[in-house]
Amino acid sequence: MLNVPVIAIDGPSASGKGTVAQIVAERLGFHYLDSGAIYRLTALAAQNQGVSWSDEQAVAAVAQYLDVVFEGERILLAGEDVSAAIRSEQIGSGASQVAALPAVRAALLARQQAFAQMPGLVGDGRDMASVVFPAAQLKVFLTASAAARAERRYKQLIGRGEVADLAVITADLEARDARDRARSVAPLAQAPDAYLLDTTAMGIDEAVNQVVAWWAKKA
Ligand code: C5P
Repeated sequence: MLNVPVIAIDGPSASGKGTVAQIVAERLGFHYLDSGAIYRLTALAAQNQGVSWSDEQAVAAVAQYLDVVFEGERILLAGEDVSAAIRSEQIGSGASQVAALPAVRAALLARQQAFAQMPGLVGDGRDMASVVFPAAQLKVFLTASAAARAERRYKQLIGRGEVADLAVITADLEARDARDRARSVAPLAQAPDAYLLDTTAMGIDEAVNQVVAWWAKKA
């Protein structure tokens, strides 16, 4: 993984970093790592196995032996397509609880680093720049105001035909961000050498173009 080009994109929930990271990866022909999905899968697998999200050693064991296959857009957990199941708000909340446990993060580190393959990788999450790929050639902290993020998540849920309440979503996002920022291991923070990209008043194309332009300057 030493010489593999890596673009690390971190930021809070519903900032749009996943969408941006995925399109940047497509444009550059790079692989893509959705690290949040790995924490979501861990939360779902623990739940399926009757393991409490607060039992650090038991969840770490689940993380260690996670039977996951990424097949393009499809994600299989123990052979079952869980692509939609891991996107629920309940599993998102579980992901942020298991993500606060140091043994769980340690168990998932090598699995994430293995995504760094030629010709390059775009990884998105909370600690791509600080922990997983500290030597990434380009680091971006992608954010947006809490109100803009809540509205994006709201539209996403409505678009999926789910029942959504903006006030509840705002409170959930704030609770999740607070937990992600306050935890002792790999807290959500802008790395000192990361570019700040505030997308509050920006469309996806503009955000993608900015990341690609930063990359062109580095490469
Ligand atoms: O990005 P997404 O909402 O899918 O992530 C779910 C949760 O997983 C986050 O709220 C965060 O707590 C955790 N996470 C993390 N480190 C990452 C990616 C996600 O702690 N690199």
